[in-house]
Amino acid sequence: MEIVYGDDDGGGGGSEKSMIEKRYSHLTEDILKERPNLGEYMVSSLDTRLDIVVSEVPKLGKEAAVKAIKEWGQPKSKITHLITCTSSGVDMPGADYQLTKLLDLNPSVRRYMLYLQGCFAGGTVLRLAKYLAENNRGAPVLVVCSEIFAISFRGPTETHMDSMVGHAIFGDGAGALIVGSDPDLSIERPLFQMVWTAQTIVPDSEGAVGGHLREVGLTIQLMKDVPVIMMVSENITKALEEAFSPLGISDYNTLFWAVHPGGRANLDQIEAKLGLKQEKLDASRKILREFGNTSSAAVLFVLDEMRNKSLRDGAATTGEGLDWGVLFGLGPGLTIETVVLHSMPLDN
Ligand SMILES: CC(C)(COP(=O)(O)OP(=O)(O)OC[C@H]1O[C@@H](n2cnc3c(N)ncnc32)[C@H](O)[C@@H]1OP(=O)(O)O)[C@@H](O)C(=O)NCCC(=O)NCCS
Repeated sequence: MEIVYGDDDGGGGGSEKSMIEKRYSHLTEDILKERPNLGEYMVSSLDTRLDIVVSEVPKLGKEAAVKAIKEWGQPKSKITHLITCTSSGVDMPGADYQLTKLLDLNPSVRRYMLYLQGCFAGGTVLRLAKYLAENNRGAPVLVVCSEIFAISFRGPTETHMDSMVGHAIFGDGAGALIVGSDPDLSIERPLFQMVWTAQTIVPDSEGAVGGHLREVGLTIQLMKDVPVIMMVSENITKALEEAFSPLGISDYNTLFWAVHPGGRANLDQIEAKLGLKQEKLDASRKILREFGNTSSAAVLFVLDEMRNKSLRDGAATTGEGLDWGVLFGLGPGLTIETVVLHSMPLDN
């Protein structure tokens, strides 16, 4: 199973590529002045928010998709399946429909829309794309995650610290990629293989992370203990054992790591409890530092950084020179998505 991109410059080395789109323009001072209800802590504002995100989420997603399709190198008319994912609002027909129109995809493209799944869904879309590509021979699946925080942004409060923490860490962004199982190697350059996927609910974690769509917009629920709960009862360790014991891998420092950059404390906990070398979470930390937590799009940002970093460093593979890697999507529930990755060779 490959995550496949094209190669628009025909070589393995050289310029950095991108399958992501970052934006900071969805909540400017002017927008907030024109829409004062967004700057209050808890006033009726859902219509105002939906007016922004329903039109902007597909547009932002389109920007990332155009980059991914260009790099893939094949005509977009070949795309047979589209998975669209956002936690930024809901509408009917959905963002998947709007994206199909904006990208001028085949109207018969098979569409799947994931709304309001939260941060772990960056792993869910990969799992779903793997199933679709494996069961539909020759099917290129376009995956697009697009998130705009205007659905949640609100004025400050002294009573709900988790709302304030959310504002400190969340950001806007979109990521896109093409997944297929039969790459045409004369045109396409696979970046990672997805070998195995899983999803699980962390025991005793109900209510730790959530979002509630109300008249006031999408409110954020983040328990203070999220980073700790993730590690309690060795949740991540259990997920790793299930994923890697069949491969005979128990030293997790031999893997490359693409963890959802949910918050600095989450990454610190994973690093400390698993005894990971400091550089193992560099890609996740860089993305968190530069773009914040862009919810479902965030792990796609991390994958993008992983392959670009590998190129920059002259590594032998797309996974920092290593063969095997792990991607973790983490979010509401708590829910953990695990994807076992295999890197591809880089001809530096
Ligand atoms: C936000 C964060 C980066 C701040 O890290 P930090 O600068 O080291 O600061 P701390 O963790 O000590 O938190 C600062 C204060 O905020 C409080 N706080 C942090 N997270 C909180 C939360 N979710 N709810 C309420 N209070 C919170 C702390 O208790 C602390 O309060 P205190 O000074 O009265 O003790 C870090 O707490 C973090 O990464 N949290 C995880 C975020 C998360 O859950 N993401 C998952 C999204 S999928």
